[in-house]
Amino acid sequence: MKALVLAGGSGTRLRPITYTSAKQLVPLANKPILFFGLEAIAATGIREVGIVVGDTHEAIRAAVGDGSRFGLDVTYLRQEAPLGLAHAVLVARDFLGDEPFVMYLGDNLVVGGIEAFVREFETERPDALVLLTRVAHPEQFGVAELGPEGELVRLVEKPANPPSDLALVGVYLFDRHVHEAVRSITPSGRGELEITDAIQWLVDQGRVVRPHLLTTPWIDTGKLQDLLEANRIVLEAMERDVRGAVDDASRIEGKVLVEEGAKVVRSTVRGPAAIGRDAVVEDSYVGPFSSIAAHCEVIGSELEHSVLLEGARIEGMRRITDSLIGRGARVAHSDARPVSYRLMIGDHSDVAVP
Ligand code: DAU
Repeated sequence: MKALVLAGGSGTRLRPITYTSAKQLVPLANKPILFFGLEAIAATGIREVGIVVGDTHEAIRAAVGDGSRFGLDVTYLRQEAPLGLAHAVLVARDFLGDEPFVMYLGDNLVVGGIEAFVREFETERPDALVLLTRVAHPEQFGVAELGPEGELVRLVEKPANPPSDLALVGVYLFDRHVHEAVRSITPSGRGELEITDAIQWLVDQGRVVRPHLLTTPWIDTGKLQDLLEANRIVLEAMERDVRGAVDDASRIEGKVLVEEGAKVVRSTVRGPAAIGRDAVVEDSYVGPFSSIAAHCEVIGSELEHSVLLEGARIEGMRRITDSLIGRGARVAHSDARPVSYRLMIGDHSDVAVP
């Protein structure tokens, strides 16, 4: 069995972060989202992985390399434009051959991994296996309708009037029949070749498509609130590990990761939280569900339930919550007169001030 990981796309819902970086590389507890997927694949015993990449291919290649550190053998597959999930399967045709494969969306987090579904697919040998989970807003996802026996009868992509609250999770298992399916469908209203339509085609052809209802948490991290929620889940599952320097005037409470070279000075860090390599936290309070990446500086500030990307600097700020702050960004309090907000923020940024 092989794996196909989708790490292309445009990431419009995480702009401006995704103008300069791939959404699959945004970190959860300071580890790129994509790595959780690659680790989950490696844990199933699969070795050969094709990663579909687009405009952000350089960043993805730099982060993942040849895959050997995950125990994987990675082949990069260039998709010239984000023309849809089923288009990505078309792009991967030669790489996949006729082998069965697991397709994994690189911005998805499936808590507990995917081994059980891979084993179920291998044992039951359906033509496809899809994972479903109940969601509050099914109109934002592919949605499944099940029949009286729990069989899959219909799949629709982001329907205005969802037939159920069962969303398609971004992990799919296919045998070779999917290749005919992705060749047979036409682009949707949003101009993409939808994997949802390809699976519907399999159902219409009488192929066996097995639904599996997921009971563990799953998050599509494409939007800020979901990303913060995924960060919260990953931090909660972490163990306390303090390797950096913490001075006597500081308090580290609960599950906190302080990586090598990090310094915590006259501060309180209340877990679950992660402080990255060579980061500095000084005269500050870092509250639960915060991830501070490598080389960040948090000076005289309070923050919680937020993610700081590499090299961000926060100074004199009370208090930052529910925020995602980009690489090398600066946020500082100023006493300068006249009192005013002085902003230089990227296109499509989102700022809320009290
Ligand atoms: O997350 C689950 C949902 O994923 C499903 O419920 C939907 O049925 C499915 O269509 C998909 O919806 P999204 O709108 O969330 O997909 P998104 O455009 O965010 O793309 C998912 C991943 O695939 C993301 O890591 C980017 C990558 N991608 C996307 C496209 C459209 C590619 O590599 N190539 C592409 O052409």
